[in-house]
Amino acid sequence: MRTIWWEDNKVILINQQKLPNSLEYIECTAYQRVATAIKTLEIRGAPAIGVAAAMGIALAAYQSQAQSTNQLRKEINIAAQAIQETRPTARNLFWAIERMLQRAQSIQGTPATVRQEMIREANTIAEEDIEINKTMGNYGAALLEDGDVIGTICNAGWLATAGEYGTALGVIKVAHQQGKNLSVIAMETRPVLQGARLTAFELSQDNISVQVICDGALGYCISQGLIDKFICGADRIVAKDGCHVINKVGTHTASIVAQYYGIPFYVAAPISTFDFNQSLQQITIEEREADEVTHIMGHSIMPNNVPVLNPAFDITPPELVTAIITEKGIIYPPYEKNIHQVQ
Ligand code: MRU
Repeated sequence: MRTIWWEDNKVILINQQKLPNSLEYIECTAYQRVATAIKTLEIRGAPAIGVAAAMGIALAAYQSQAQSTNQLRKEINIAAQAIQETRPTARNLFWAIERMLQRAQSIQGTPATVRQEMIREANTIAEEDIEINKTMGNYGAALLEDGDVIGTICNAGWLATAGEYGTALGVIKVAHQQGKNLSVIAMETRPVLQGARLTAFELSQDNISVQVICDGALGYCISQGLIDKFICGADRIVAKDGCHVINKVGTHTASIVAQYYGIPFYVAAPISTFDFNQSLQQITIEEREADEVTHIMGHSIMPNNVPVLNPAFDITPPELVTAIITEKGIIYPPYEKNIHQVQ
């Protein structure tokens, strides 16, 4: 249950565009291929693309013919720049790149030493991600009760991380392992259906009961008392002015409906998703290609030449978030004050 790993000096990743119909792997022998995989959603989910960025940089270092450490660092910077341009919103991508570049700068020694260290650091980031999600799952599981039906959006499971648990689905999995009888209502998550394709796949593999709804059915399901709690992941939590949660488009709508009908709205995210430096205005919400909306699984569903809007993420303000589950504990409002517990 790993989404991405380093093997025989290559980066191997599950091609998530092919799931659930087939389980295929991509072998990357150049960092550019890792960058393409991030861009095209062959690997996706904030923590997973952070790990992919780190592995891509390690691959660039491994492949470099540089004879001096300075030259190697220059080539690592070029790869980092290219990987940074793949997707703009998930904080984890930038967090992982910054960590790799800091390590490349601080390590002294020959190019061979730096190359080895880059591979070691990328593997460490992946291992840590799995441990962090397990810890987060343990904290979050306390919020779930036997019999709960949990709503979720997109895929915030092991496929969205280095592997094993996931963030929001990690919380559900740990509670399930503790013996709580839970079931999930997963929003299909148009346009590219991470909920219908990936969350449904993951939860059924784990024998956790799951039903998929089309996104527009969420309000009805909550109004009818069919969902007790909502949990999602995050791509970036802007922590400068309260905690604004940037996550898959549709999350904000879910948070409004949850508050209207009085059900808790939880977010599960590691500290590497938090942005402590930039303001909301400085963040780019990714706009993706129109064909994700005009087509479903390669089939055109719209008249030609009708324009579409395709923002990949939206912003949920802190007043709609009941609590944020992290590996350092659960943060409750007021977030401006309580954020210091995890900073
Ligand atoms: O466009 P995606 O599939 O990369 O979007 C992913 C999400 O929105 C997830 O909810 C988020 O990254 C958290 S995953 C642990």
